Parts: sequence; C-alpha cells; structure tokens
Amino acid sequence: MWFFRSPSIIYGEDSLSFLNNLPCSRILIITDRNIVSMGLAQKVIKELPEGSESMIIGNVPVEPTMSFIRSQAKTVNEFRPDLIIGLGGGSSMDCAKACFVSYERPDLDLYEITPMVNLDLRKKAKLVLIPTTSGTGSECSWASVISEDDHKRKNELASPEIIADYAVLDPEMVKDLPWEIRRSTAVDALTHAVEGYTSAWKNPYSDIFSRKAVELITHNLPFLSKGEKGMGRIMDLHMGASMAGLSFSNSQITLAHSLGHSLGALYRAPHGICVGIFLPYVIEFNYPESGSQYDELISMFPEEMRRKKLDGTVREFYRIIGMPTSIEKIGIKKEEYLQNMETLVSLAMESTGTTLNPRETGRKEMEELFMKVIK
Ligand SMILES: [Fe+2]
Repeated sequence: MWFFRSPSIIYGEDSLSFLNNLPCSRILIITDRNIVSMGLAQKVIKELPEGSESMIIGNVPVEPTMSFIRSQAKTVNEFRPDLIIGLGGGSSMDCAKACFVSYERPDLDLYEITPMVNLDLRKKAKLVLIPTTSGTGSECSWASVISEDDHKRKNELASPEIIADYAVLDPEMVKDLPWEIRRSTAVDALTHAVEGYTSAWKNPYSDIFSRKAVELITHNLPFLSKGEKGMGRIMDLHMGASMAGLSFSNSQITLAHSLGHSLGALYRAPHGICVGIFLPYVIEFNYPESGSQYDELISMFPEEMRRKKLDGTVREFYRIIGMPTSIEKIGIKKEEYLQNMETLVSLAMESTGTTLNPRETGRKEMEELFMKVIK
C-alpha cells in the first residue's frame, strides 16, 4: 500500500485572492524580515477576509532551530489563530509547519513529529503555505527541517498531517526574485525532479511530476537569465518547482542531496548551489543503475541542450544559466575542504538520500564524488 499526498494547490495570477474566501478570522503569518521589508507580507494581508485580525511573526532565521520554534509557542497561543500562513522560502514554510503542530498539540514534543505518531491536528487552525522562491518545494512536502540549536544537525520532522491544507502559487510573490536566488532555487528544484525520478521509492505518480518539472524548469529559467520579465515564464518555473516538490516528497531525494547537505552543513553556501554542483557527477555515478531513466529525462530538456547522456545535458543547461560548477567558484578553499573530508563523508553517509540512492555508495565512492567538484 502506498499513498500520493498533496495539498490543494491554487496557482496562477491573482491566486492570492483565494485567501479572501477562507472561513477564518484570526490569521497568523510566519515569515522573515526580508519578506516583510519587500512588502510581500503586506500583499498577503491585503487579501485576507474583511474584518479579520492578523499578526506577523516576522523574524524567522535562515535555518530555524528547535529553540526558535519553542520560543514562539507563547505568542502563537495568546493570539489563538484559526489560520496559520507560512510565507517565504523553505525556512519560513518549515517553521510554520512546526509552529502549527506545537500550537495544535502543546502536549507533544517536536521530536514526536514522525509518520508513526497520530498527531490529530486541525482542531484549532488550518495551514496555508505561500512560497516566495521557486525551488524548495516545501509548500508541497510533509517535512519540516529544523536545526538543532548548535546547527550541527538538521532534524527532518515528518508527518503526512503537516502537509498544508492549501499551497498558493502566485507569480506576484516571485516576480522580483534576484537572479542568483532564482537560479540557485531553480537548480535545487531540478535536482529534486531528477532525484525523485531515480530514488528507490520512485513511483508512477512521482515520475509524472518529475518529467513535467524538468520540462518547465529547463524551458523557462534560461529566458529569465536574459532578463525577460514575462509573468508566464515566471509562473511556469514556479509550477515546475512545486511539481518537483510533489515528486520528491512522494518518492525521495538521493545522493546529490546527501553530498549537498553535508557541504551546506560545513559551509554557508546556498542549498541549491550545494546540491546542484554534485548533480552531474551523481548522474554519472548512477548511470549503471539508472541509465534508462536518465535517458528518458533528456527529452524533457529543450532540444538545443540535449546531449548523449543526462550529465552532459545538465552541464549544458548549467553553462547557459552560468551555474557555478566547483567549490572553488563558490569561494571554498581547497586545502580546508580536503582537511574536512572525513567529516564531509561521514555527514553524507548518514543522510537518508544515501540509503535511497539507486546505486550503493560506500565511504570510498562518497569521497571520490566530493573530490570531483574541487575544480
Ligand atoms: Fe533540495
């Protein structure tokens, strides 16, 4: 028995106005300072039902910690929301999921958010997620990544019950994304799509979303790199990222995420860059196991980017969008990187992506993959 899980998805121009019809009167928005200063939180507030009261928690840090979630409990309880909105990138949306659980179930510890525990939520509020980047897919997933306070470990709190009631994909929320953020988040989404297509838990439903996601991302991002501002392309990319989210959250990510999470834990480079620089090498490594699936994905790329193998096709896509392809290009020093190799390998070996990778991977292979991205 298996399940395909998804929130209700509202998408396209003006989809924020959907909020106006929700039966709610006390709305809590969880977001970060940047989103507030860009005026995006205000745009959401304008669309809330008339006469409703709203409150913003607007200081979500880049990697929210368990203490941060716990420290918000009093504020959330006092406000008594009947709707919680997570607005932002992965951090804000993941934070909203965790705060939603701690508000609904103050008797539970955050570590109890696992698929094995019946959380019995939605007695007090519903959950809406509104992404402001086109990449993480958190609006579609049933995981919330919350770091330990010392940032040495990221807890993947997961339960099907923390899938949002609604995911709202409005291009207005992503139209002014700076290019570097658009590129790194889109590469993250491409990596989700490719890994969801080859993980040990891949399935016919995730396959469909992976294929369409690869098409939407690779056909649209290059035009946005040239400064084109078409809302159609921005929306298509936004949908592509959420479809990649639907794919991997119903299958799993694999080795590029194991390597990228490990790199990201030691160096503060954007997540999409960390996973993306490994993707072509992981494809190369997995070809003996997943070659036919990779070959199927080549046809999802624009014709002029297609090469004989998928790793070459992805490299051509990277060339067009100017994606950094080595640690040197993202400012990581080779000597320090080599000194950290033991830790990098250990962290990557612990990741669930390693277990679900189509090809078995030991420490030796992991180290070889880390070595590939030096230059
Ligand atoms: Fe990712």
